Amino acid sequence: MLKLCAIAALSISIGLISCNDYTKKPPVEMTDKSEKKWWKEAVVYQIYPRSFKDNNGDGVGDLKGLTSKLDYVKNLGIDIIWLNPIYSSPNADNGYDISNYDDIMKEFGTMADFDAMLSEMHKRGLKLVMDLVVNHCSDEHEWFKQARSSRTNKYRNYFHWWPAEKGKPAFRPGAFEVDGSGWRFDSLTNSYYLHYFSYKQPDLNWENPELRKEIFAMMNRWFKKGVDGFRMDVIPFIAKDTTFPVITQKMLDEKYDGHWGVYMASGPGLHSYLQEMNKEVLSKYDIMTLSEGAGTTKATAMDFVDPDRHELDMAYHFDGVDLGYVPGYFKKMDPNWSLVAFKKIYSDWDSVFANKGWGTIYLGNHDQPRMVSRWGNDAPEFRSASSKMLTTFLLSMRGTPYYYFGDELGMTNIKFDKIDDYRDIETIAEYGKVKNAGGDLKGFIEDQKNGGARDNGRTPFQWTDGKNADFTSGTPWLKVNENKTEINVLTEEKDPNSVLNYFKKMVQLRKDQKDILVYGKYTLLDKDNPDVYAYTREAKGEKVLVLLSFRKTGGTFNLGNMQIGEEWINNLKALPVNGNTVTLQPYQACIVTIK
Ligand code: NOJ
Repeated sequence: MLKLCAIAALSISIGLISCNDYTKKPPVEMTDKSEKKWWKEAVVYQIYPRSFKDNNGDGVGDLKGLTSKLDYVKNLGIDIIWLNPIYSSPNADNGYDISNYDDIMKEFGTMADFDAMLSEMHKRGLKLVMDLVVNHCSDEHEWFKQARSSRTNKYRNYFHWWPAEKGKPAFRPGAFEVDGSGWRFDSLTNSYYLHYFSYKQPDLNWENPELRKEIFAMMNRWFKKGVDGFRMDVIPFIAKDTTFPVITQKMLDEKYDGHWGVYMASGPGLHSYLQEMNKEVLSKYDIMTLSEGAGTTKATAMDFVDPDRHELDMAYHFDGVDLGYVPGYFKKMDPNWSLVAFKKIYSDWDSVFANKGWGTIYLGNHDQPRMVSRWGNDAPEFRSASSKMLTTFLLSMRGTPYYYFGDELGMTNIKFDKIDDYRDIETIAEYGKVKNAGGDLKGFIEDQKNGGARDNGRTPFQWTDGKNADFTSGTPWLKVNENKTEINVLTEEKDPNSVLNYFKKMVQLRKDQKDILVYGKYTLLDKDNPDVYAYTREAKGEKVLVLLSFRKTGGTFNLGNMQIGEEWINNLKALPVNGNTVTLQPYQACIVTIK
C-alpha cells in the first residue's frame, strides 16, 4: 500500500470536584521564554469553500456565501481562516489542480468577490491563509498546454518529461490513478510526464530557476493583495531525484522506512528552494506559513521550521492521521486502534518542537474523515461527549490547532452506501483498483463508512435543519448529511450544552490561559493507560491536568500524590474521585489545576 499522501488531590473520601468558572480566574503571569508570535497563539479554522455556503443556488459553496457567514466565524473566537484552493481550476481534485494562479475559480466567484471577502475578514480582525499548490498545477494551465506542444517549447522545462525512446520510465506512484502510475504517456511529443497525483496534475520542475521565479512572483502578488499566509500543499515533494532511478522495495525499506512518500519528498535542493522562497517572498511580510508534511518525519521536521534556517514557520505531520488503518486495505479503520500508540505519536511530536520551532495539531481536515467518527464515537448517545473531548484535546495541546469546519458542530461521516454518491477522485480511483482486481467492492464501500474516504469530511456545512441544511437553494454538489436535523448551527446556538458552545468556551479558555495552554510545557502521564489520555501543561510553577477518556466504557486515572484544585472545563457533569482514583465517564474530558 502506498503511503502518500499520507499525561493528582489525594482525596481520602469519595468526593466530587466542584465546578468553578475559569473565566473568573486572573490569567497566569507570562513566564515562558520562547518567542511569542501571533500565529502560535491563534486558532486556525479551516473552511472547505465548496461546502460552506452557496450564495447563487448552483449547489456549490462560493465566496459571496462565505462572506455572508463571517459573523458566525468571528463569533467562534478563532483568529485565522485557512481556505482550500479557490483559484481557477477544472476541479479534477477540487481545486488542487490550478489552471490560473491569478484568478478565482468560476464556481466560487470573481476577483472582486475575493477582494470584498478579504476586506470583510480584515474588518473583523480575521486573517486569511490561502492554500499554495505548487508541486503541480493543472494540465489545463497555460504552462502545460505550451510545454506539451513541442520538446523545444520554452515552457517544456517547467515540467518533468521522460522521452519514450529511452523506454518506459521507472515506476513512480500516481496517487489518484487506477493503474497507480505517476507517469502518463503524451503522444504529441512521444514522451511521458510526471504526475504524483492524477494525470490532470502534472508536477512542476523546481530545478528550473524560471519556474521558481514565476512562483515567487505569484506569491508576492497575493501577499501584496493582503493575504496573511500560505498552507503549502505537499511542499516537501517539490524536490525530487530527477534522474528517476529504479527504486526497489529493498531500497525503499532500508532507506525510506518503506514509505514512497518519504522517497518522493527527499529530493536534493528542497531546503535551498525554501530558503530562496523565504528570501524572495516570505521575509518581506508579517505572515505565517505551514508545510503540509507529506513525507516529513520527526527527524526532518525541524529543518523546515527552525527559525535560524529561514524557511517556514510550522509543519504538520501525518503520523497521527495515519494511525489505526488496517495494512493492505485502503484506509480501512481498525476499530481496536491503540490509544497508547496515539499518545506516543502526539507526545513524540511535542518533543520535536519542545525547545525550538513550532508544531501544529489537527484531527480532521478535507483529506480526513470526520474526527468524531474516527477518534470519538458518532453513535447518538456518545457523539456530543466525544466531540467535546476531542475538542478539549486539540485546544489544550502545545502547537497551533488547525480546526476543521463542522467539527465544532460535531458533524459526522456521511457513510455513503454506493460509489455513485462519491465525488472524490481518490475514492473513485481506489474503487476502480479493487474492481480491476476482482476484489470485494461491497467490503470496500463498508470500510469507507468508518474509514478514510475524504468525502466523509467534505459534505455541506449544516446551518439549519431545513432543506439542504440551508447550505444551498439548489442541488448540493455532494449530499447533505441527514443528521442535519439535530446537528446544525441554529439548534446548537440555542443550546448552552451544545458541541458548538463547548467549542467556543474551549477557544476562550485557550486564549485566557495562553501562557499554560499555548506555551506551557507538556508532560504525558500514565502512558500505558489504554483508556485515558492524561497530561499536564505547566508554566512557571502553575500546572493543569488534562484528563481525556477515549472509551465508551470511561476509564480510571490514578492521581498519585497530585492534588486537584480548580476545574477549568468539563464536558460532563462532575468528576468523581475516590481516594486517589479519578473515574471518568464515557468520553469525559476535563482540565483541572494541580496543587
Ligand atoms: C494534499 C491535499 O490536501 C489534497 O487534498 C490533494 O488531493 C493533494 N495534496 C494533491 O494536491
